[in-house]
Amino acid sequence: MEFSKIDNFVLKEYGLDLKAYKSKQLIRRIESFMGRVGAKDEEDFIYILKKDSAINKKFKDHLTINVSEFFRNKEMFLELQRKIKDILKPEVNTLKIWSAACSNGAEPYTLAIIMDRLTLGKKHEILATDIDTTILEAAKKGIYTKNDIKNVDKDLIEKYFKVENENYIINDNIKQRVKFKKHDLILDSYESNFDLIVCRNVVIYFTQETKDKIYKKFFEAMKPGALLFVGATESIFNYRELGFEKAGTFIYQKPGGK
Ligand SMILES: C[S@@+](CC[C@H](N)C(=O)[O-])C[C@H]1O[C@@H](n2cnc3c(N)ncnc32)[C@H](O)[C@@H]1O
Repeated sequence: MEFSKIDNFVLKEYGLDLKAYKSKQLIRRIESFMGRVGAKDEEDFIYILKKDSAINKKFKDHLTINVSEFFRNKEMFLELQRKIKDILKPEVNTLKIWSAACSNGAEPYTLAIIMDRLTLGKKHEILATDIDTTILEAAKKGIYTKNDIKNVDKDLIEKYFKVENENYIINDNIKQRVKFKKHDLILDSYESNFDLIVCRNVVIYFTQETKDKIYKKFFEAMKPGALLFVGATESIFNYRELGFEKAGTFIYQKPGGK
């Protein structure tokens, strides 16, 4: 990392360990932001960040990039839905699910909708975590724009959302199924006994070493037979080395189970 002072500042202020993030991409992102706020060098930038809380917050958002939407890459979610039904048998087993790096909640609520449809109301445990507490607060409110729900079928919108002033508010019934919690995939320890872990569009920012560490910890956190669902650009090339089997295009399975 070229920006050692910014690196220290970010770790102290936001608790974000930039050493684990891909260097080139990150430097580009930091440089583009510095340019936008007119910072001359690292010292000047840190001075601006300390002085201006709005810029400070924008910088944190810029680093954590919390773009999300319901049924992101819809075909893949439909494939996941089929695998959940066939492999995890949600109508029989009570599943423990984790949406890791869940951003604004669109992802865990998508999972809650899928589970509701597959099980006709049987309750499942859905944990949703992110490093960013601001986005978690928004996630708990469950208020979305038309753009966030553009991949959701009309009948599902009618069933699971209330429309108010051009906002789409997720139903309480779905909201209650998701437990949100702050969690850092790099620094924090993981819960265990998951049947399904969904971790999408976050490891792309991490170094290979960090990715491997995260996937190993996921493996440990999964029950035998459990599934791991990753993002559309995040194929795990060394999945065999990590102990996984391939169960779908972007779905991996821990061997074992029934
Ligand atoms: C692009 S969003 C992905 C959201 C969702 N998973 C999806 O695919 O639509 C990336 C999220 O990762 C979170 N994030 C970044 N670094 C993280 C870390 N070390 N631990 C946990 N979450 C992190 C960000 O705050 C952001 O909300």
